[in-house]
Amino acid sequence: MNLLKVAICGGGRTGHLNAILFKQLPNVQVSMHTHNQEVIEHHVRHTPMQALLPDGSTLSARLDRVTSDTKAAVEDADIVIITVPAHARPQTLKDIAPHLTTSKPVFIGAIPGFCGFDWLAEATLPDRPNVVIWGMKDVPHTAFELTPGRSIKMGGGKSQLYVATHAREPQTARRQLEKILTRLYGPCVTMLDHFLEITLTPGNPIMHSSVIYGLIGPYGQWHRKIFPQRMCWWTECPELGAYFLERMDQESQELCAVISQRLGIDLSSVKSLKQEIVEAYGEQIRDPSSMLSILRTNQAYNDILAPMVPAADNRAGYVIERESRAFNEDVAYGLVLLVEMAKRFDLKVPYIEEVLQWSVAYMEGLRDSALDYFPRQWPHTTSAAA
Ligand SMILES: NC(=O)c1ccc[n+]([C@@H]2O[C@H](COP(=O)([O-])OP(=O)(O)OC[C@H]3O[C@@H](n4cnc5c(N)ncnc54)[C@H](OP(=O)(O)O)[C@@H]3O)[C@@H](O)[C@H]2O)c1
Repeated sequence: MNLLKVAICGGGRTGHLNAILFKQLPNVQVSMHTHNQEVIEHHVRHTPMQALLPDGSTLSARLDRVTSDTKAAVEDADIVIITVPAHARPQTLKDIAPHLTTSKPVFIGAIPGFCGFDWLAEATLPDRPNVVIWGMKDVPHTAFELTPGRSIKMGGGKSQLYVATHAREPQTARRQLEKILTRLYGPCVTMLDHFLEITLTPGNPIMHSSVIYGLIGPYGQWHRKIFPQRMCWWTECPELGAYFLERMDQESQELCAVISQRLGIDLSSVKSLKQEIVEAYGEQIRDPSSMLSILRTNQAYNDILAPMVPAADNRAGYVIERESRAFNEDVAYGLVLLVEMAKRFDLKVPYIEEVLQWSVAYMEGLRDSALDYFPRQWPHTTSAAA
């Protein structure tokens, strides 16, 4: 079997877990790009990197390279996997662009590929005929409790991994990618027909923003108040948050239907959030009768804390963190994109817009967003990107 060179950009939870899993395979070389000196120092000291599996067993690995030098991390890679959050991807892609090989195909993907990674990569890597752009719909496993450079806990895995390529990629490149990803993840890899199946799949952008809006938005019971203790995202989900989530889920489905009809694309794989959660967690949900009960009674969601920080000025209690990923990633790169796509089709999505506008005000404005790379003419374009 020929040597496969994998570069992982981002030494966080997803990066660590995937790197360790890949190193269990024969003839797979793994390099990791990270800014975290602690991860690099552990590598230099030959500390084994460990993944703690749900069944209590442990996998151990030593990566081939762990570095903050972008060139050293990616220059000879066959496949580059970006595992940084969506708001950090533009800088990551800019940094790696000058160092990618031009002498062989290089498959550049994001895990997860949401927030329009195909458009970002197309905009950042123009005129690169050897670059193949791809994304995975979701993370293959949840990953948590990272001790950088040392250990990561693996949570539940997906039974199927859905992957899409940029619409411009030819069949031959798609088949090569499928082969590489099957080697890395096993036979659970399924190729989707269109990247929009990833972009339009409802997830964190509507989930996090609706719950925060229900808690501290203008009609929330915690509006302008301080929480006495940290709250759990889902087990303590407010009714109002679940109501907005259900409405936003419906609007997201309407957007999908309009895009599917107008562009003639089959988006039937994009399910409503409610259906996605019920199918993914099944028996773990004690009461699947409503969005509220699904969120509150899903055992897999127990004990997940909402992003909170101590209140300012030495006041006792907590507030929702403005700098959290629920805003910087989910709002600026997720919700913004949904609203803009709806606008391009003259579709009204009033609930999503209401939550977006309030969230942006809470963030004190957008510094950067998915609009920085969303194609101006979409869906009208002469390239295959539509
Ligand atoms: N962990 C999960 O179970 C899970 C589940 C569902 C979805 N996801 C998604 O997977 C992606 C990665 O999540 P993760 O949990 O692996 O994240 P993480 O543990 O926080 O790691 C993210 C890594 O991204 C890099 N980074 C660069 N700029 C950053 C910035 N401004 N803010 C935060 N990180 C920055 C850092 O890498 P270096 O310091 O190494 O350079 C950091 O270690 C996110 O899009 C997340 O929504 C994760």
